Amino acid sequence: MADLAAVGVADLAPEQAAAEWQRLAEAVSRANRAYHTEDAPEISDAEYDALKRRLAAIEDRFPDLAAGSPTQQVGAALAEGFAKVRHAARMLSLENAFEDAEVTEFDDRIRRYLNLAADAPLAFTAEPKIDGLSLSLRYEDGTLVQAATRGDGEMGENVTANARTIADIPQRLTGAPAVLEVRGEVYMSHADFAALNERQAAAGGKTFANPRNAAAGSLRQLDAAITAARPLRFFAYGWGELSAPLAGTQSGAIARLAELGFRTNPLTRLCRSPAEMLDQYRAIEAGRAGLGYDIDGVVYKVDDLALQARLGFRSTTPRWALAHKFPAELAWTRLEAIDIQVGRTGALSPVARLTPVTVGGVVVSNATLHNEDYIAGRDSRGAPIRGGKDIRIGDQVQVYRAGDVIPKVADVDLTARPDGAEPYAFPDRCPECGSPAVREEGDSVRRCSGGLICPAQAVEKLKHAVSRGAFDIEGLGAKQVEMFFADPALPIREPADIFTLEARDAAEPLRKLKNREGWGEKSATNLFRAIDERRQIPLPRLIFALGIRHVGEVAAQDLARHYGSWEAMTAALDRARPAALAHRAADAAEQAERAAALAEGRRARVSEARAAAVAAADLPAEAAAAWSDLVATDGIGPVLALSLSDAFANPEERAAIDRLAAHLTVTAPAARQTAGSPIAGKTLVFTGTLEKMARAEAKARAEAMGAKVAGSVSAKTDLVIAGPGAGSKAAKAAELGVEVIDEDAWLALIGG
Ligand code: IVH
Repeated sequence: MADLAAVGVADLAPEQAAAEWQRLAEAVSRANRAYHTEDAPEISDAEYDALKRRLAAIEDRFPDLAAGSPTQQVGAALAEGFAKVRHAARMLSLENAFEDAEVTEFDDRIRRYLNLAADAPLAFTAEPKIDGLSLSLRYEDGTLVQAATRGDGEMGENVTANARTIADIPQRLTGAPAVLEVRGEVYMSHADFAALNERQAAAGGKTFANPRNAAAGSLRQLDAAITAARPLRFFAYGWGELSAPLAGTQSGAIARLAELGFRTNPLTRLCRSPAEMLDQYRAIEAGRAGLGYDIDGVVYKVDDLALQARLGFRSTTPRWALAHKFPAELAWTRLEAIDIQVGRTGALSPVARLTPVTVGGVVVSNATLHNEDYIAGRDSRGAPIRGGKDIRIGDQVQVYRAGDVIPKVADVDLTARPDGAEPYAFPDRCPECGSPAVREEGDSVRRCSGGLICPAQAVEKLKHAVSRGAFDIEGLGAKQVEMFFADPALPIREPADIFTLEARDAAEPLRKLKNREGWGEKSATNLFRAIDERRQIPLPRLIFALGIRHVGEVAAQDLARHYGSWEAMTAALDRARPAALAHRAADAAEQAERAAALAEGRRARVSEARAAAVAAADLPAEAAAAWSDLVATDGIGPVLALSLSDAFANPEERAAIDRLAAHLTVTAPAARQTAGSPIAGKTLVFTGTLEKMARAEAKARAEAMGAKVAGSVSAKTDLVIAGPGAGSKAAKAAELGVEVIDEDAWLALIGG
């Protein structure tokens, strides 16, 4: 076929024009997606404009192509993308379970948290988990005013015009609370999916891999006319902001949503025990194939809404709900090769390259092999897994995929092993920088010892630094980071370089960003503006952005809350440094003692060995105090504390951290609702058994009221809450003159 792109619009025959129109329309939508949705532009602004001009020229000459066509609005509508909206109440995800035993554990855990006896009534709803995408519908005074996708849970995309085209979504409600956000799942039925794909294929358009993709692709159409032509459906299963409660129970609230005109799932049941929950799980699973739409599990929710409120949320999931997934889908294929990827903390991760195979409607060509022990057929303690079978290149392997998790190689077929297949030799050098890859005792992972000289580690650290929970810079995603990392004129090699990018670009005579392929004046300016917006950064985000091993988002928040400011944290870590070194030495002493005890056939005296090593360091009191303050912080254990202090004590890493901080204004953690709180700013310690409220709930309540919860009593402790059985901590509090109260006094203090 002639290269149509080279033919002038005036010279195109009608069928050529149709083909060329299709190509351009797709290229424009892809560019729009890359720019607006994935924040990762693939073509320059100039190329984008040229595509759109040619598209318009073709439509001018062949108005039939434009008339009524989905791309008629390519210009204006597509260029704008979806507006982002902030959810009034965050849209969360669900904790997953795969085994029956986890359902009983869920019930147990909730009872413990709420301090409910094993025989106290506790009911749950059980309903299908729809495999679609979640949508939040906001009604004000009974009128649908906004529909938003989940997005990252805090900000979603405004898809109101599209949602209005879905028949299951009422535009008006009678008798609803003044503000009502209804949440549920948009999905496509099997029959509608098959018909859509048939239509698409007949029209030479894109077909979808599965109903979920089809639903997502259809809802997130910039042209609502396309959404209207796609048969989407909606089940309501929850709510966000409300001006008045819907009911006192989950099941009552769902019944109320049904009365208001929403479709709710007819397989929802009220269960009074884990056994009943499992019965409903089995019943739903048995009927799965005949439902006519995809479901991927069963969701259990605590029925009593007052209990849901007490249980509250973890960082991204509610404590009162559980998604019990159906078993993952499996497929067999050939292991072509094993590649080693080097991560942010230097971990060498083996990745299986597979002959592509469809698993649950998705083509899989890569899967994780976890670590070297996993390939060799043993767990981290040396015990056999898969009956001890190792995995070799050329083997037939079983690939397992569950929902959104990364596919993994689950099993191997020894009868199909090719002759001459060799056991896999895991590299002992980093494939990226050649530094020795070492495996520390007790660690299942081999790590590159190259630190910042390893380009793979550096680039992964940068990707982490710009990720969502960290700097989250619009227009600077993983792809751009890789480009800048390799760029000779405007390199970004460490996070601090991000903040000098604009100045360096201004001083760059030749290779200015705006003149680069894939960039333009607008995208370059947008990037610099997005970077500037992040010069001011909340403390937890900065701590998380550093990419220190073991310091995840929750630990970063704990540290930020504990220290209150960047300066306080760095100063404390500097003070603690000699103690951190002594504890590293104690690790070595502990290992030596274990080895000696093994050789001598006696029990290892680990704590004595550690204590002796720490005593030998003869720590200044200030260092010892800063260290114990760090490890006593709730949520911060010795492993994390060591990893954190190592990073701050390593001269190169510290210099890079300081260079970054020099560009930033770090803001203190967001104030909690502490007005009038009697415990705001106080440090509390819980000890002994609490009888009316479990420890986790007590801690969550205390923190929500602005208190810090520590794990051990020190001179900094303001208050100890001691239940029966309180031992040394209560004694220490008495010794230090710290106030000690019982659980009733605690409840009175926090208002019940
Ligand atoms: S409740 C606070 N119920 O599953 C949690 N979610 O994996 C609110 N989903 O984001 C979710 N069916 O998109 C709930 N019956 C159901 C569901 C359901 C499907 C989706 C939802 C959620 C995801 C979490």
